[in-house]
Amino acid sequence: FAKEAVNTAAQYLDWVSASDLENTAELQAGQGGIMTSNLKKVAVYRDFDNTLRAFSAVCPHLGCIVQWNNDEKSFDCPCHGSRFAADGTVINGPADSDLKPLPIK
Ligand code: FES
Repeated sequence: FAKEAVNTAAQYLDWVSASDLENTAELQAGQGGIMTSNLKKVAVYRDFDNTLRAFSAVCPHLGCIVQWNNDEKSFDCPCHGSRFAADGTVINGPADSDLKPLPIK
């Protein structure tokens, strides 16, 4: 059941509003954070080319919202310890898949 709920949430959010990303203008290169777009939580990272990248902040394990870890430059899940690199790639389980990338429109 929980997995279904996660999948439904992930399907609902499939893009991020560029105007919502204006709130992230203060993000320096190499910094990330969690923001809200379309009433959903979004993990945002500004890479060293100054490009903003956006991912669903919903942990693919059981659906908690990940947090930005500025010391490690990773998105960490507070529920069961999964960790994701700044590009969304899973680096520690129990999650077995990456944060879902979201196009910015
Ligand atoms: Fe994120 Fe379990 S919900 S590690």
